[in-house]
Parts: sequence; structure tokens; C-alpha cells
Amino acid sequence: MKRLVINGGKKLFGEIEVGGAKNAVLPIIAASLLSSEEVILEDVPDLLDVSIMSQVVCALGGEVARQGHTLRIKAENFDNFEAPFDLITKMRASIVIMGPVLARKGRVRISHPGGCAIGSRPVNWHLKGLESLGAEVRIDHGYLDVSAPKLTGARIYLDFPSVGATENILMAAAAAEGMTIIENAAQEPEIVDLANFINQMGGKIRGAGTNIITVEGVQEFSGTRHTIIPDRIEAGTFILMAAACGGDVLVNNVISTHLAPLLAKLDEAKVQYEELEDGIRVFGNDSYLAVDIKTQVHPGFPTDLQAPFLALLARAKGTAIVTENIFENRFMHVDELKRMGADLKVEGRSVIVQGVPFLNPATLMATDLRAGAALILAALTAPGRSEIWEIQHIDRGYENIETKLRGLGADIERVDE
Ligand code: UD1
Repeated sequence: MKRLVINGGKKLFGEIEVGGAKNAVLPIIAASLLSSEEVILEDVPDLLDVSIMSQVVCALGGEVARQGHTLRIKAENFDNFEAPFDLITKMRASIVIMGPVLARKGRVRISHPGGCAIGSRPVNWHLKGLESLGAEVRIDHGYLDVSAPKLTGARIYLDFPSVGATENILMAAAAAEGMTIIENAAQEPEIVDLANFINQMGGKIRGAGTNIITVEGVQEFSGTRHTIIPDRIEAGTFILMAAACGGDVLVNNVISTHLAPLLAKLDEAKVQYEELEDGIRVFGNDSYLAVDIKTQVHPGFPTDLQAPFLALLARAKGTAIVTENIFENRFMHVDELKRMGADLKVEGRSVIVQGVPFLNPATLMATDLRAGAALILAALTAPGRSEIWEIQHIDRGYENIETKLRGLGADIERVDE
């Protein structure tokens, strides 16, 4: 069983490099299916989720080759419209192949993604959007069977600015006949990266990054070369680890505007940091203050940093309230942190955090990706030996996290026995 063994209590010093954004590269790999020419993606992190999305593309008939952090994708002889059940059920984010496959083949069949550890996660807004573009949706033996001999531009209002639904609609609309307007669209930086990528292939998308996106459909998409934006969640995780452990850490390859809500909260908590051109330098010490956070859609505080921020707050001075507004069941790290001595109380969608002076080391279970990151943060601060189990969740979104953290002087090792 693979696990991480951490001897915590050490300050962190040095530089750490952030990779390309997982949540940007997954829809961009899917969007590569819009073109029959070769697409080259740079700064592609080596993650389990990226490998699953690549396998989905191959199963559909595309070709994917990785060399270091470069991915070459060619979907010339792409002849399938059904995505394999075992791959789709491994990764919910693979739902974003619906838009491009529908656009290219006129039909897509994909197993209905169920819930996951952090909530039931329906796909109704994805389907409603595709239906507005002229698709017909059938549910058959647990599969979504979506067909559209022709996609036609439409005005689509999203009841909620869902990231995945915005991406699916954007990719289908890019190849539809006529104009699509997506109102109340998601505004995350990963949506902007996807739109830029599609535009480089010949698409005509305007307004990505605002809540109204206009898409003029085109019939042909060329190949292109694109560099994926830095991962703001990986960057935020390292910044929080540096703040929690103390020391002096430079987190490189950061677009600080993408992290504005996190940096605002660090200001409030009196964490010392410096914004540099391409990075954030964090001067961690033990005297940071408790601050309340409420997760919101971008540009609000990101739900993906809620768990690591809560782990930071576990040792803050004072009492904080952490409210999760995006997912219904995203507090699984709370019980694990309590086992380390954190003083936490769940009240509905909020956790009341009473800061304690230190956490105790423990054997811990990572229940999902960001909960896993929170436990690493907590274990790094707890003097003594902690173990984290179920680390396959962590590998979905952090490339070689133990190697990167060892570069800062952390005592962390992956063992497999
Ligand atoms: C994406 C990110 C994930 C992040 C989330 C919110 C990827 C691969 N994943 O997930 O890391 O935490 O955005 O920033 O980019 N919902 C519905 N019906 C739908 C779609 C969504 O009810 O049709 C609900 C979900 O259950 C959830 C909320 O809306 O409660 C937000 O989901 P959404 O923005 O779609 O997140 P994802 O795209 O799944």
C-alpha cells in the first residue's frame, strides 16, 4: 500500500515550481478532438487525471503521445463516439468530452457520471445547454446518449455558473452553426485558457473570463501549439504550506491575479508575503490570525483551497468560520484533522475552527484530492511522524508532491510496501 510518511515540525526554505493547471489541461485535451490536425500542449502536468483523459481520447480513436511535459494529440482518424465505462467512472471530469465529440461526430455516448466523495454532482446544466444547441438527450442503461446531426447556436442562460457545463457548451458551440451567447457563464481562469486555445485553433469566442461569453461557430479547426496556464490551486496549496510551516519559500510560476481571493485572505490573516513578477515569496511565522472564509465561484474564494486553508486555520490565533457554498459534502478532512487535535465543529455548511497551538502527528486517510493536500499541510506542521494513506487521490492533482516538498527541506517520503 502506497503512503506518505512525514516527519513534521520543520520550517520550509527555498524555491518550489508550480506546474500547468490540471483543470485547464483536462478540457483542453478534450477540445483537441475538435481538430483533425495535430495539437501540441506544453506544460502538461504528469498526473493521473491527465493520463485518464489521454486514455479516453485514445479509446475514441485519437492518438496521444507524451514527452516530458509536452503532449501531442492527433484526432485525425477519430472514429468512435462511445467513451469506455471504466475510464469515465474513474474521473468525473471526463464528462467534458461530450461537447467536442458531439460537435465532431454528431453523437456521443458516455456513462452517466454518478456522484463522488464530495457530493452528488449532477450534469443537468451540461445537458440543458447541449439541448439548447439542438441535441437530443436519451438515458439508456445508465448511459447518456446525446445526438445532434446539426448543432445550432442559441442563447443559453446557466442557472449557476458551472465550470464543466460552461466548458461543454463552449466546445459544442464553437462548432455550431451561428451565434451562441452563454449568460451567467463560469469566469474561472481555466475557462479563459480553454477559450484562448479554441481561438488559436480558429474558433471565434469572445468574453471568456466574464459572465457573458459569445461564440460564433466555425466549421474547421486547425492544429496549434499551446502552453497551459500555471495551476492556481497547486500554487495556493504551496503558499498555504509555507505559511503554516514557517520559513522563507518562493513559489514560482504563479499568476498572482488568479490567486487574488487567497492573497486577500492572507493579508487579513497577517501572513507575510511578497508578490514578485512570476512568483509569491512567503515568510511564514506562527503568529497568523484566524479569518473567516466562504467559498464562491471565481473570483470568490475557490472551493479547491477550502481544505488546505482550513488546515492552516487549525493553528491560527482565534476563531474562524469556514463556509462551503459550492459542494454539499466537502468537509471530510475535518474528522482527520480532529484526530490530530484540531478543535473543529461542523454546523451545516460551515465549520467553526478554534485555533490550537499545535497539531499532533497521526495516521491519516486522504478521502479526496484537496482533503489529501490539507492533511499533508497539517502533517508538515505536526512535530513527529505522520502517515497519509490512500494517496492515489493526491496523485490525481499534484505531480511528485513529495519530491517538490523535499526541495524545501520537508521530511516527506513515499513508501510502498
Ligand atoms: C470544476 C473543477 C473542480 C472545482 C469546481 C468548482 C475541473 C476538472 N474541476 O468542477 O476542481 O472544485 O469546478 O470550482 O475543472 N452542478 C449541478 N449541475 C450541473 C453541474 C454542476 O448541480 O450540471 C453543481 C455541482 O454538483 C456542484 C456545483 O454545481 O455542486 C459546481 O460544479 P461545477 O462548477 O460544474 O464544477 P465542476 O466543473 O464539476
